Amino acid sequence: MNRLFYLQLFFLFPLLFTTLEAKYLDNHSCKECHEGIYNEYQGSMHSKSYFNDELHRKVANAASRKKYECATCHMPMADNLKALLSGKARPDKNNVTQTDAISCYFCHTIAYVKKAHKFNINTKARQAEHYKPTLYGRLNHPDESDKHSSASNPVYAKKVCMGCHSHKLNDNNVTIFRAMKENQNSLGCIKCHMPETEGGAEKMDKRARGHHASHKFLGIHDKAFRKTGVDINISVKHRKLTVVLANKMGHPLIIQPARAKFLKIEVLRDGKCIWKNYRKSPKEDAQGYFAYSFKKNGKKIVIPATATQGSVHNLDSKEKQTLIYDMPPLKKGDRIVVSLYVRLAKSDCARVIDLKNRLLVEPQLMKQEILKL
Ligand code: HEC
Ligand code: HEC
Ligand code: HEC
Ligand code: HEC
Ligand code: HEC
Repeated sequence: MNRLFYLQLFFLFPLLFTTLEAKYLDNHSCKECHEGIYNEYQGSMHSKSYFNDELHRKVANAASRKKYECATCHMPMADNLKALLSGKARPDKNNVTQTDAISCYFCHTIAYVKKAHKFNINTKARQAEHYKPTLYGRLNHPDESDKHSSASNPVYAKKVCMGCHSHKLNDNNVTIFRAMKENQNSLGCIKCHMPETEGGAEKMDKRARGHHASHKFLGIHDKAFRKTGVDINISVKHRKLTVVLANKMGHPLIIQPARAKFLKIEVLRDGKCIWKNYRKSPKEDAQGYFAYSFKKNGKKIVIPATATQGSVHNLDSKEKQTLIYDMPPLKKGDRIVVSLYVRLAKSDCARVIDLKNRLLVEPQLMKQEILKL
C-alpha cells in the first residue's frame, strides 16, 4: 500500500522529485541474486558498449570525432549523457555508468516510452533518494528484496523495446533504420528474443516460479537462432529457378544500416559450379541483395550520419518475395544450393573503416537449402 502510494506520487508529481536521485545499481550488483540472468546478459549484445563493440566504436568515430550522439541508445545510463551528446566529454572506460552499456537498471526503470519523429524517447521513473529503487518488470506478484522494490508495469509487455529499436532518422530527416511499425508492441519481440528458460527469476527461486525470461537476447550473432528468421523455398520448372523468401520475424530483414544480407545461388554438377547468381560481388544480383544505401548531395556515402538521401532494399516483416532466375540446361543429378548470408559490416562499410575482427567482414551463413534434381 505504502509503496503504491509513493509510486503514484512519482508519476503524478515528477517535478517534486527532480533533484532527488537514487543511487545507481550497476550490472554487477544484480549478480548477487539474479546470477543466471546476469550470466545470460553478459553474453548478449546489450552488454556491449563503445569500448568492446569494435563495429559500433569505429562507425561512431567515423560519424563524429567530437560528439558521441549514439549514447542515447548505446550508453543510455551514462551519468554525463548530455556532455557526451554535445561533445563536451568523450567516452571513458573507467566510468561504470558507461561501460554498463544497455544496463539492467536502465531497462528496468523505463516508466514509459514517448513516440517521437527522429527516434522514440525512453522516459525514466524518478527514484527518490534514501529509498531503495523500484524496478519494473512483468512478474505476477513480484517479491521485494533488500536491494530494490519490485512493481509490474505494462510497459514491459508493450513498449519496452520501442525506445531504442523502433526507428532512427538523421538531422536531414533521412531514415537510418526502421524496425518497428508505429503501433507495434514489444510482446512479439520478447517472445522470440527472451523465451522462457529454466530457473527462477532469482537464485533462490523463493517463489518457485521455475522459469524466467532469457536475457541472452539472441539475434543475428547466433548461428542456430539466425537460421529461424527466414524460410527459403526452391523449385525449378522449364529452366526457371524460383526462390521464395518468407520473413517470419516481427521486423524487416534489414534493420541495421551496416548490414548486408544476400543470396548466393550455385548450380553444382559433379562437384563443379556451372552457374552462379553473381561473379564477384553479391550486389550484382540486385533482387537477392538486401541492404541500406545512402547518398549525400547525389554522391554515394557509407556512414549515414550526414546523408541527404537513403533507400533500402528489404524483405518486410511477414513478407514473401518470389525471386526468379534463368537457369542453363539442367541434368538429373545437378544440385542447386541456395544460401542466405549476412555480412555484419557490409563490404563498402568495411572499406571505409578498418575492422580487425574478420567475423565482422567475412560472410556468415544464415541458412542453406539444397535441391537435388
Ligand atoms: C535510437 C537509438 C539509437 C541511436 C541514437 C543509435 N543507435 Fe546504433 N543501434 C541501435 C539499435 C537498436 C541497434 C541494434 C540493431 C541491430 O543490431 O540490428 C544498434 C546497432 C548498431 C550497430 C551494429 C552493432 C553491431 O555490433 O553489429 C552499429 C554499428 C551502430 N548501431 C552504430 C551507431 C552509431 C555510430 C550511432 C551514433 C552516430 C548510433 N548507432 C546511434 C539504436 C541506436
Ligand atoms: C538482494 C537480492 C537482489 C538483488 C541484489 C537484486 N534483486 Fe532483483 N529481485 C530480487 C527478488 C527476490 C525478486 C523477486 C523475484 C520473484 O518474485 O520471483 C526480484 C525481482 C526483480 C525484478 C522483477 C520485477 C517485476 O516486477 O517483475 C526485476 C526486473 C529485478 N529484480 C531486477 C534487478 C536488477 C536490475 C538488479 C540489479 C540492479 C537486481 N534486481 C538486484 C532480488 C534481488
Ligand atoms: C536503451 C536502448 C535499448 C533498449 C530499451 C532495447 N535495446 Fe536491444 N539493442 C540496443 C542496442 C544499442 C543494441 C546493439 C548493441 C551493440 O551491438 O553494440 C541492441 C541489440 C539488440 C539485439 C541484437 C542481438 C544480436 O546479436 O543481433 C536484440 C535481439 C535486441 N537488442 C532485442 C531487444 C529487445 C527484445 C528489447 C526489448 C525487450 C530491447 N532490445 C530493448 C538498444 C536497446
Ligand atoms: C518471430 C520471431 C521474431 C520476432 C517477433 C522478432 N524477432 Fe528480432 N530476430 C529474429 C531472428 C530469427 C533474428 C536473426 C535473423 C536475422 O537477423 O535475420 C532476429 C534479429 C534481430 C535483431 C538483429 C538484426 C541484425 O541484423 O542486426 C534485432 C536487433 C532484433 N531482432 C530485434 C527485434 C525487436 C526489437 C523485435 C520486436 C519488434 C523483434 N526483434 C521481433 C526473430 C524475431
Ligand atoms: C533490454 C532491456 C533489458 C535489459 C538490459 C535487462 N532486462 Fe531484465 N527484463 C526485461 C524485460 C522486457 C523483462 C520481462 C520479460 C517477460 O517477463 O516476458 C525482463 C525480466 C526480468 C526479470 C524478471 C524475470 C522474468 O521472468 O520476467 C528479472 C529478475 C530481470 N529482468 C533482471 C535483469 C537483470 C539482473 C539484468 C541485467 C543483468 C536485466 N534484467 C537486463 C528487459 C531487460
